[in-house]
Amino acid sequence: MAAAAALLPWLYARAGDATPGAGAKLAATPPMGWNSWNTFGENVNEAVVKGIADKIVELGLKDLGYQYIVIDDHWEGGRDGMGHIRANPGKFPSGIKALADYVHSKGLKLGIYSCAGDQTCGGEVGSYQHEREDAATFADWSVDYLKYDYCNAPEGFEEAIRRYTTMGNAIEATGRPIVFSICEWGPRSPWLWGRKAGGQLWRISFDVGDMWDSPEDTHSCIGILTAIDASANIGGHAGPGGWNDPDMLVVGLGNKGMVKGGGCTAAEYQTQMSMWSILSAPLMIGCDVRNMGAETCRILTNPEAISVDQDPLGKQGNRVARAASTEVWRKPLANGSMAIALLNRGPQEATITADSKAIGVASNKSLTVRDLWQHKDLGVFKEQITLSVGPHATVLLRATPHE
Ligand code: GLA
Repeated sequence: MAAAAALLPWLYARAGDATPGAGAKLAATPPMGWNSWNTFGENVNEAVVKGIADKIVELGLKDLGYQYIVIDDHWEGGRDGMGHIRANPGKFPSGIKALADYVHSKGLKLGIYSCAGDQTCGGEVGSYQHEREDAATFADWSVDYLKYDYCNAPEGFEEAIRRYTTMGNAIEATGRPIVFSICEWGPRSPWLWGRKAGGQLWRISFDVGDMWDSPEDTHSCIGILTAIDASANIGGHAGPGGWNDPDMLVVGLGNKGMVKGGGCTAAEYQTQMSMWSILSAPLMIGCDVRNMGAETCRILTNPEAISVDQDPLGKQGNRVARAASTEVWRKPLANGSMAIALLNRGPQEATITADSKAIGVASNKSLTVRDLWQHKDLGVFKEQITLSVGPHATVLLRATPHE
């Protein structure tokens, strides 16, 4: 820890501020899409990816903004005699370029995965010391997004920054707009240097499992609440072109995905969607959308939650009040209104109050309030909003102050 603290001034100097850079054009709002890992793990293949792309369009998810179809680990098939990375021909018989063409023909974009080590987290071939050629290969394949992991790589800050910057530069050198998703999980504070390394998003916590809570943020599956807590004090580093990423959505996994954890209730999944929206988090679906139930679909397709996430102001929400097991979060929105989340962490129904001071509204002002899950205007509130919130649930509101 002492070593990390000593490095902070240097990291800050490298990091710059949260003003939009070139990346803002690429990820002006948090990326949305689908990623193969949570459900398929090493069983990802061409047929799955095509089927998911078809369904994303058919169900209207594309029109809601879900556009990146990301193939996670285990697509790789080693390197050819020339050293070029190639896809596993058994899983991707037509190759990644043909798959990208298919995905593009649907009006979607294709993402792929690699690693800053010489092997990926799943033991496949990684991109270390092949950054230039792999970035060029991904660009040749018309890939639009690269998730770049950090297994089998040294612990230290400096080498991590160097490796991510090397790949960031390699991507830039291709001339193709490719979203660069940094995935070192948070131990080296990537919110401080992710933009400078060329990233548009960076993981800030370990993998979110299909579970509500976990005792600590360790290198195994963590709970939804644990990822929310990891996001709490770093909101100032997020903004257009550079987003804190508390990992993918576990909504709808139902403990049947590759990523387990016991499963969550609908209220807990809805909390993840609500809080990811308040946090301006990337919204990457992880369930099998080809076979999802009505409840999962309802949660993932709520246009009012999505519009909070995608608000063009691009401010990450902050926790503005907390009691034993209740919290109030606030996210300013572009039109002068705000999104408010009333989060009940506890197992009993709770009454939660967002008072005007906590949410930064002068006490002589009124608030017109809308419930974004009930899709209902709740009326005009003065001085405070007090509502009942179910166990592990989140009430997501839009509040507009006026005289
Ligand atoms: C790491 C990442 C996961 C996933 C796996 C793939 O654990 O954090 O999101 O990409 O590797 O092996």
